[in-house]
Amino acid sequence: MITQAKLDKDFPMVAQARATKQVVYLDNASTTQKPQEVIEAIKEYYSSMNANIERGAYQLATKAGQQVQRVRAQVAKWLGGAEAAEIIFTAGTTASLNMVADSYGAEITAGDEVIVSAMEHHSNFLPWQVICQRKGATLNTIPLTPEGTLDLRAYEKLLTPRTKIVACTYVSNVLGTINPIKEIIRQAHQYQAITVIDAAQAIGHIPIDVKELDCDFLALSGHKAYGPTGIGILYGKSKHLVTMMPPRWGGGMVDQVTKEKFVTSPPPHRLEAGTPHLAGIIGLGATITFLDNIGYPAIIAHEQALTTYLRTRLSQLPHVRIIKDTKEKIGIFSFVVNQQHTLDTGILLNLKNIALRTGHHCAAPLLPHLNVESTVRISLALYNNQDDIDILIHALQTLKQ
Ligand code: ALA
Repeated sequence: MITQAKLDKDFPMVAQARATKQVVYLDNASTTQKPQEVIEAIKEYYSSMNANIERGAYQLATKAGQQVQRVRAQVAKWLGGAEAAEIIFTAGTTASLNMVADSYGAEITAGDEVIVSAMEHHSNFLPWQVICQRKGATLNTIPLTPEGTLDLRAYEKLLTPRTKIVACTYVSNVLGTINPIKEIIRQAHQYQAITVIDAAQAIGHIPIDVKELDCDFLALSGHKAYGPTGIGILYGKSKHLVTMMPPRWGGGMVDQVTKEKFVTSPPPHRLEAGTPHLAGIIGLGATITFLDNIGYPAIIAHEQALTTYLRTRLSQLPHVRIIKDTKEKIGIFSFVVNQQHTLDTGILLNLKNIALRTGHHCAAPLLPHLNVESTVRISLALYNNQDDIDILIHALQTLKQ
């Protein structure tokens, strides 16, 4: 069960911020705070385990290598039973998505089509825009319904035999909407299109099962789910990882090299040239253990109760307009305050020690669909509570005067 006492112990920065009334942190879609055991795992790694992997003949190197293998298996299980070899360590969601775009971009030719959704973060939009511009391919966008969900009927019409890629976010970082991603993937596969799922905003809040989704690729970042920055995952089906173009060439990714030729190692190594972010990997392992101990059902129950409370309190404020509050969502709300620029709202809330994000949230192509130029965004995490929301609502009330 999620209790305040346990969370205060688990998240030192949140506990300290509460004790000193320093900050009410409501910008969790940007990055989450870290549990003590993740911080300790990273400290422990550098204090007693640090060695490069896959290179040294000595025990310390073997041990570090075993830890990385252990975390890879842990991630595979976390994502619903993937093969460990289908898990590639990257620097984060952006790196993972760019890796796929760079590799599959080579196969896109003039006249091909790529579909993205109107809700994409720039990380799952720009790589495809660049490829399409370079190759003379067409970039199509799944629009929104008036309610703010993805328009699946319009999507169906966009799919053609020339559709090579469907790149879609699981959860919107601006609206919190949980997209019907399994259905989107199913339809894409009817046209043999490759599906690339951005799960950055999903992973901290809902369980992910890559086998059930049947996605070709899925990207995520550790830091959005209480883990370290600088470490991310690219899940890919084995058949793609065996053939896809490595993002980099160098140490740790080849079995043989001569002056004339080389033979790459099997996945995952062929896609992980260079020394990986070892401490980040160890930290990610501790993060998964932390999340496993709480369990997604408890996280969902806590966050959904808080989402309902926040929705009720926000809708009692006549000067606050919530933007596209959909039913299937995680605890993210975008809003605007009447007669006020969103940046001003953010600055005024900051004066009351409330941390949230304003602007386009790196999802600028979404804003014309919402008829706004920017929003103020609240994003909840498992350590937030009703007191945080009450403080926010009180601060928003003062903006009316
Ligand atoms: N992608 C992060 C956000 O939505 C940075 O704020």
